Amino acid sequence: MNCFEDNAVNLDILRKRAFNGRWAEVGEGVVPLTAADPDFQVEPKVLQAMKDYLDGGYLSYTPKLGFPEFREAIAQGINARKSEGVEPDLVLPLDSAARGMYVIAGAFLKPGDEMVIFDPVDFLFKESCLAAGGVPVLFPARPRADGTGLELGDLEDYITPKTRMIGLCNPHNPWGTLYTREDLEHILDLANRHNLWIMNDEIWSDIVYPEQPFLSINQVEGDKSRVISVYGFSKSFGVAGLRIGCVYCNDRAVFDKLVEESAVLTTAGGICSISQVAGTACMRHGFERLDAFLVHLRQNRDYALERLSRLEGITCRKPQATYLLFPDITATGLASQDFAAFMEKEVKLAIVPGTEKFFGPGAEGHIRICFATSRAILKEGLDRLERGMELLKTR
Ligand SMILES: Cc1ncc(COP(=O)(O)O)c(C=O)c1O
Repeated sequence: MNCFEDNAVNLDILRKRAFNGRWAEVGEGVVPLTAADPDFQVEPKVLQAMKDYLDGGYLSYTPKLGFPEFREAIAQGINARKSEGVEPDLVLPLDSAARGMYVIAGAFLKPGDEMVIFDPVDFLFKESCLAAGGVPVLFPARPRADGTGLELGDLEDYITPKTRMIGLCNPHNPWGTLYTREDLEHILDLANRHNLWIMNDEIWSDIVYPEQPFLSINQVEGDKSRVISVYGFSKSFGVAGLRIGCVYCNDRAVFDKLVEESAVLTTAGGICSISQVAGTACMRHGFERLDAFLVHLRQNRDYALERLSRLEGITCRKPQATYLLFPDITATGLASQDFAAFMEKEVKLAIVPGTEKFFGPGAEGHIRICFATSRAILKEGLDRLERGMELLKTR
C-alpha cells in the first residue's frame, strides 16, 4: 500500500490522539488543516525499534548527554543529506525542537538582551526569547519578489548595542522560503561583526522541494562558532508526541553552556529512552519514506496552489519548503482571526489565523494551511474554503 494514499489516514485514531488544533481538538465534522503535524502513520521500522526496546523490559536512566548511538545517528543523518559537518560530540539530544530553542535562549540571553526575530515567524522564537528575559525586536520579514527568499536589505538596522542574538528559521515557517548562500553569508557576517549568537532552527530542513536546494548556514564560509542549530523530528517523521529534538553547535565551550542550561546533568532535563530509540531509527531508516512523503507533498502543494489560484480574494506564494501555505486574504476585507472563525463556523474548516499569537503582527492578513494530509482530505478542505469564499461574497 502507498503509505500516503487516502485510506492511509486513520481518522478514528487521529480523532483520539491528534491534539494541538488538530483532529482531537476540533468540533464535530470540522476538517483541520492547522498545526504542522502529518496525518500519516509512523514508519514501521521506527515503531518496531521502539517495540524491540520495550521487549527488553528495562526502562532505566539513560546517559546524561543521550545515547551515543543517537548522537552519532543524528550527526550522520544530517551530514548525509545536508553536509553540515556535524560532530556527534557537539550534539545534545533534547525533548523537542521547542526545548532546544528555550535552551539556546536561556544559555545565551541575559534579561534585557535583545534578540532580532523575524516577523512573521513561528511563535517559539519570541516565546523562547521572552522566557530567558530577552527583548524581542521584530524584523519585518517579507519575501523577495523573485521568490528566492526573504528581503534582508535592512536587517542590520534592527541591531542595537543591546542585541545578543538573531533567530534564523531556515526554511522559514510560515513563508516556506529558503535562504540563498548570499543571504546566509550576510547573516553570518552581521552576527560575527556584532558579536551575536544565531539561533538557527532547521526543523524544516528535510521538507524541501526540488526547485531550490536547502543550504544551511553551517555550510557557508566564515566563523560559525556563534551558530547554534536546532533540529527536530516532528515535521519529517510525524513523531511530535514523542518530543524528540536536539541542538548542535561548532564549539566545545558553547556546547558545555548548552548542556548546563538544559539541566540534563541533574536529570531534571533530557529526553526519554524510547524517544531516543525512535529518533535513532528515524535517522537510520526514515529517509526513504521521507523521500516518498516529499513526492506526495509536492503533488499536494501544487494541487492546493492551483485550487487557491482560482479563488478571488486569495493570493498565495509557492513555498519552496515546508508543508505550509501562507495565503494573503486581505482582499476579503476580513482580519485573519475573523476569516478563520468564519470558515470554522460556516463551512467547518479549521486553519491557523495569521495572528500575533502564532507568528507576530506581520502575519496579519494571512492564514496558514497545512497540506500534510491525504489528497482526499486536502480536497475536502479546499472545497470547504471555496464554499466559504462564496458565502463571504453574499454576506
Ligand atoms: C520553526 C519551528 N520550530 C520549532 C518547532 C517545534 O517543533 P517540536 O515539535 O520539535 O517542538 C516548530 C513546530 O511547528 C516549528 O515550526
